Amino acid sequence: MKAAVLWERRAPLVIEDLDLADPAPGEARVRIVASGVCHSDLHHIQRESWVAPPFVPGHEAAGVVEAVGEGVTRVRPGDRVVSAFGVRCGECFFCQRGQPYLCATPYPTHVRLRRGDQAVTPLLNVGSFAERANLDARNLVVLPDDMPLEPAALIACGVTTGIGAVITTARVEPGASVAVIGLGGVGLNVVQGAVLAGAARIIAVDLVPYKLELAREFGATHLIDAREGDPVERVKQLTGGWGADYAFEVIGNPATIAQAYEATRKGGVAVVVGVAPEEATVAINAVGMMRTGKTLVGCNYGSVRPAIDFPRYVDLYRHGRIKLDELISRRFALDEANEAFAAMERGEVARGVIVFE
Ligand code: APR
Ligand code: ZN
Repeated sequence: MKAAVLWERRAPLVIEDLDLADPAPGEARVRIVASGVCHSDLHHIQRESWVAPPFVPGHEAAGVVEAVGEGVTRVRPGDRVVSAFGVRCGECFFCQRGQPYLCATPYPTHVRLRRGDQAVTPLLNVGSFAERANLDARNLVVLPDDMPLEPAALIACGVTTGIGAVITTARVEPGASVAVIGLGGVGLNVVQGAVLAGAARIIAVDLVPYKLELAREFGATHLIDAREGDPVERVKQLTGGWGADYAFEVIGNPATIAQAYEATRKGGVAVVVGVAPEEATVAINAVGMMRTGKTLVGCNYGSVRPAIDFPRYVDLYRHGRIKLDELISRRFALDEANEAFAAMERGEVARGVIVFE
């Protein structure tokens, strides 16, 4: 089976022929049809991360179930599915409290992928830059027959993380002012989440003019090119001098996390969506935290509960209430995976998607 493998941090991905084990108990073997290209994959490729190479990237996938392991009842061969990433055991402290996105159960250690004697890790329990993947059936949500798989794949990460940050984590209310810093595949979904929530002002911030134009198409009301000066001051100018009711950081950079906090009004809510480097810290004036009464909240995976939220996003798409096709700027074959990341780094795509025949 063909898969893209990272053998060494910061090296190019290499297309390899890997052996895929039979699905273990609780797993389903899924033929991958589409896999979105997310910056989180690139973080693991480029930064020191908790996932050691070799691994297969890709965690935003949809496909078709081919076989199931022992005990799997929620999906059957032939089902078209979208997969959440990570682990949601259903039993731990957090899963029991309805916060499966914080699941404390370690990632499985049994070997699913090999090249010869070498075990290869599927990134984030998915590893969908591959023709097939054995996926934890608890992460799978069956799609209706009329839901195309390419836009469905984006629900697995970017859509869920971005819209979930607005709807589920921050609970933005109608009429609110919202600032979004970083307008990639995730940030554009924060913008459309703010539209869904009925935000009045949606202020979109990026360094790339094409991203600002995309944000306008997704519903941003004001655009700030961060190359032209301090975006915090610009956000304040656009919000009566006070700052936005809600500000979202969707890059993963301590400097822009601080900007999001500073761009939030007194009593408002700053939301950290981006994944910063492991050892990074953010500098925020300490007494200001008390005086301004702001809330600074982390948003892990849009606070998603896949069985509830994924069907909701499918329905919103089918009724024309959210844009998914418009997020897909370019399609790539698996052996163009390195080019797909390069296009993301150059700021040329909202989302690139790896498609398999
Ligand atoms: N100011 C404003 N915008 C910036 C800045 C900056 N200093 N630095 C980067 N950007 C913009 C980029 O131009 C790009 O449009 O942030 C955007 C990031 O988008 P993508 O690279 O497409 O990343 P995405 O997949 O959306 O992920 C964003 O969310 O889930 C996390 O791990 C993910 O940390 C990553 C973040
Ligand atoms: Zn992602």
